[in-house]
Amino acid sequence: MAENTRRDFIKTAAGTAALLAYPPASVLGASDRVRVGMIGVGARGQELLKQLLAVPNAQLVAIADIYSRRRDEAAEFAPGIHALDDHRRLLDMKDVDAVIVASPLHLHARHFLDVVAAGKDLYCEKTMTWSITEAEQCLRAAEKTDRVIQIGLQHESSGALADAKKWIKDGLLGKVTQVESWMSRNTPHGKGQWVRTVPSECTPQNVNWQAFLNGRPDRPFDANKFINWRLFWEFSGGNITENMVHQIAWITSALDLPLPSAAYMTGGVFSEKDGREVPDTIAVTLDFPNEVVVTWQSTFSNSRYGLGERLLGSDGTIEHVAGATDMVTGNSDEVTRYFPEKINRANGAPLVSETKDQNHMANWIDCVRSRKAPNAPVEIGYRSAVAAHMANLAYRRKERVTLQSAKTLAA
Ligand SMILES: NC(=O)c1ccc[n+]([C@@H]2O[C@H](COP(=O)([O-])OP(=O)(O)OC[C@H]3O[C@@H](n4cnc5c(N)ncnc54)[C@H](O)[C@@H]3O)[C@@H](O)[C@H]2O)c1
Repeated sequence: MAENTRRDFIKTAAGTAALLAYPPASVLGASDRVRVGMIGVGARGQELLKQLLAVPNAQLVAIADIYSRRRDEAAEFAPGIHALDDHRRLLDMKDVDAVIVASPLHLHARHFLDVVAAGKDLYCEKTMTWSITEAEQCLRAAEKTDRVIQIGLQHESSGALADAKKWIKDGLLGKVTQVESWMSRNTPHGKGQWVRTVPSECTPQNVNWQAFLNGRPDRPFDANKFINWRLFWEFSGGNITENMVHQIAWITSALDLPLPSAAYMTGGVFSEKDGREVPDTIAVTLDFPNEVVVTWQSTFSNSRYGLGERLLGSDGTIEHVAGATDMVTGNSDEVTRYFPEKINRANGAPLVSETKDQNHMANWIDCVRSRKAPNAPVEIGYRSAVAAHMANLAYRRKERVTLQSAKTLAA
């Protein structure tokens, strides 16, 4: 988020927070409220904070961030919260029941495992982990605990997914052998996708650089890497872990796909020549053992077709599209539709998804209270993370990667 947008957002959100930070006693008794802490209160963390403050039976009690600016911003949102500089102090707090993790990707596994070990329920941003090895560790930890864990794959709570699953279960697609998916963006000339201005007070005095590195090779403070971590492999998986993961999770859930058997990925840094390592132009192919091939394409220098997924079956197609520019009206809509294949379903009628989305954050809080499984449990976090890391491994090694070889390479 650009700094001025972030400031405007904080101004509005601070007003909202003053009303919502502490729900009135009439909403729910103190013992029924879920007391929440958050680790990492940057751009996404502040969006999630706003979402959390709008859930009536949740109460934000503490945040932890290693950058003083983010602690100050969080305190503006929710006056009176504990703003800590070490996530371990937050996990020591007895009056924190559940924790949201919105730190950079390379820290997810550390924070995930620490939260679960502390006996707290967890909402962990996507991608669940930075590597396959870490995904295995988190899956194992989740299997050994009764904590409620939601992954920040919010499209798992979409009404369109619920409808797609029903249409598939009802046999409207027949045999699906291929899925095509894509995601595209653009920025003005000279401005790179994702690039954030480094604030002037982002200095070693205001940031715990060692905690950011979390065991990665030591080096002098690098403000650009701290703020723009998304551009570098050490901390990020690029657009594969930022965006493909959402769409692969959605496709995986709709078709109940297992882990891919193989991945291929090509592309490069073709449009964003700003020193980044992660590619801006991408073509991925994922093979699944149940005779399905999924492709995903992405560019950062053309946004006309927005994003979408098409599930191609012998008896019908499910198409979800969003953000494409209509050539006539110039508008863009999000819609999920079903089209019958007339040669196999002569009397089939087209359908449009109308089921409303669920609020992903509220679904987590509800599940923390009911102890039910949330909409994006660890299993989908795991499958989508492994698929994403297989693709990146194939790109970086310039070769086809099988599930077997990916697990060996990751070990
Ligand atoms: N679900 C979605 O749609 C969605 C959207 C955007 C981002 N995200 C995810 O959210 C995560 C955060 O992204 P962002 O854009 O907010 O990044 P960011 O850099 O803006 O925020 C990360 C925050 O974590 C803090 N941090 C770093 N190391 C820490 C540590 N050791 N302990 C505590 N705090 C630490 C930083 O100071 C910063 O405030 C990423 O994993 C990203 O993929 C998800």
